[in-house]
Amino acid sequence: MITLGIESTAHTFGVGICDNNNILSNIVDSYGGEGIHPRLAADHHAIVAGKTVSSAINAAGIDIGDVDLVSFAQGPGLGPCLRVGATTARTLSVSRNIPIIGVNHCIAHIEVGRFLLGIKDPVTLYVSGGNTQILAFAGGRYRVFGETLDIGIGNMQDTYARAIGINFPCGKIIDDYISKGTKYLDIPYTIKGMDFSFTGMLTEAIKYAKTHPVEDVTFSLMETAFSIVVEATERAISHTQKNEMLLVGGNAAAPRLREMCHIMCEERGAEVFIPPFDVCRDNGAMIAVLGMIEYGAGRRTEISDTKVKQKWRTDEVDVIWR
Ligand code: FE2
Repeated sequence: MITLGIESTAHTFGVGICDNNNILSNIVDSYGGEGIHPRLAADHHAIVAGKTVSSAINAAGIDIGDVDLVSFAQGPGLGPCLRVGATTARTLSVSRNIPIIGVNHCIAHIEVGRFLLGIKDPVTLYVSGGNTQILAFAGGRYRVFGETLDIGIGNMQDTYARAIGINFPCGKIIDDYISKGTKYLDIPYTIKGMDFSFTGMLTEAIKYAKTHPVEDVTFSLMETAFSIVVEATERAISHTQKNEMLLVGGNAAAPRLREMCHIMCEERGAEVFIPPFDVCRDNGAMIAVLGMIEYGAGRRTEISDTKVKQKWRTDEVDVIWR
């Protein structure tokens, strides 16, 4: 069975194709503006949609007629962006008479990890611009064990970077500053039970940046943010008694965060899994994989049920395939 997946929840328009065992192609085209303006990002997606679908089909070495299922990220995400992906999926489905399925973006991050890395039952730390959550399977659903109460780590990092004069994408420069920082400055460590918040430490770091070396400020800010999410993940692992951890999302590329996850898991006798970056970030292949899994388990989506769900929570999805 060949599935074509479409991702468009935020700044990336992605199309990926998989069969039952492998990812055949995974093409992304990201909006590169400063921050994300939802309408401008949606305009970008609409412009690149057709050519991204064609590129993914060509890269997979298939014909559009070979596609058995069209999967799309139905939510959560930015409404205008989601609607471009949904419209592209409906167009392919209706014009070619291919079944359609709408899937949850956050769960796709987890399931592509399980599909590729052979993991069974991980606690997942999902860190990106829009999302920072700790997810684990319990009682038939992916439950949210902890999450940000305001912005995602990636959003915090991008806002901080802009404030100190670094343009998007800033990840490599931030990672470089983290590695060069030598003095830890006092940053608010904001964790409330299993949830956390990043806006307070962001404000503090921007203030510090006026009077302290940028390497020390960046190191202090990110060391604090990473410590918070790793602490909450450790507690989720302890509570659920699971022994696998999955690190996903665009910010999973950060070397210091990866190092912290490895240290924590080693101390607990757990194992860390991190998918390759092209499937760790927002991408179409993960949407294809989850669509294929759900369709295989019997889930069906009617065209009339393909309206986007901007605030679709992970724990609202009945996990019928596990
Ligand atoms: Fe994502």
